[in-house]
Amino acid sequence: MTGAGRGPTASQNGRRILLLVGPVGAGKGTQAVAMSAELGLVHLASGNLFRQALRDGSELGERARAYMERGDLVPDDITIGMFMEKLAAPAASKGAILDGFPRTVTQAQALDATLAGRGQRIERVISIEVPIEELVARVAGRRVCPACGTPYHLSGEAPSIPGLCDRDGTPLMQRDDDRSDVVRARLAKQVAPMLEVLEHYDRAGIVHRVDGTLPIPAVTRAILDELTDAADR
Ligand code: AP5
Ligand code: MG
Repeated sequence: MTGAGRGPTASQNGRRILLLVGPVGAGKGTQAVAMSAELGLVHLASGNLFRQALRDGSELGERARAYMERGDLVPDDITIGMFMEKLAAPAASKGAILDGFPRTVTQAQALDATLAGRGQRIERVISIEVPIEELVARVAGRRVCPACGTPYHLSGEAPSIPGLCDRDGTPLMQRDDDRSDVVRARLAKQVAPMLEVLEHYDRAGIVHRVDGTLPIPAVTRAILDELTDAADR
């Protein structure tokens, strides 16, 4: 396989590429925000990019809308082009935390090839694991900041001022695809391709699994410890 690899040499050209993988509600966005603050890397989330495109009324957003509303994956040709453009932007010059991409083996191969072309590869793939039964309840209580994408939870992770984002004060909202029927569709349709992506990176020996049922700071600690340990191995 091209582009994937492990160990301290994995962050070529001083650029770290870290992947967060997990089903709907596993905590990818939550952990990406914490890791971004800790590691100083940009957080690139494919779902956030699609939602921003929808709010902007762009053609890309319109093309993605129907798939997202049904809980389907947006087709690879749309997704890969959008994501690679963001990965090539100056904001990602030090590296990036990838949240929600790649989600199919075709996307993973495209990412691997793009990175290999730049003499780079993925440093580590973190799989956040949570039993399916817990996910529907988690997502039902989620509220997100439409401006910066930070997720909150009505009971567990409430903002300091009810209804407002701690980071930028924007009123929080509920995502359209967080209705329980769409969440169930997302789980039914998106877990199998996610497992194939994990298998793809398992073959390169770069996947690390963390228990996503632990409290949020404990999950963050487990991820950061693994990144340090992997670099030392
Ligand atoms: P996307 O936005 O990526 O949605 P998702 O993968 O379904 O994941 P979520 O954002 O719903 O969950 P999360 O893991 O980020 O959890 P969070 O941290 O918010 O994608 C949306 C749609 O876009 C897709 O359905 C698809 O249509 C399309 N799309 C996106 N990427 C694509 C791609 N690459 N290819 C094709 N289509 C694509 O946490 C959830 C809640 O739990 C929060 O309330 C949080 O506070 C709480 N929580 C988090 N961690 C914990 C914890 N440890 N304990 C208790 N509560 C916790
Ligand atoms: Mg998310």
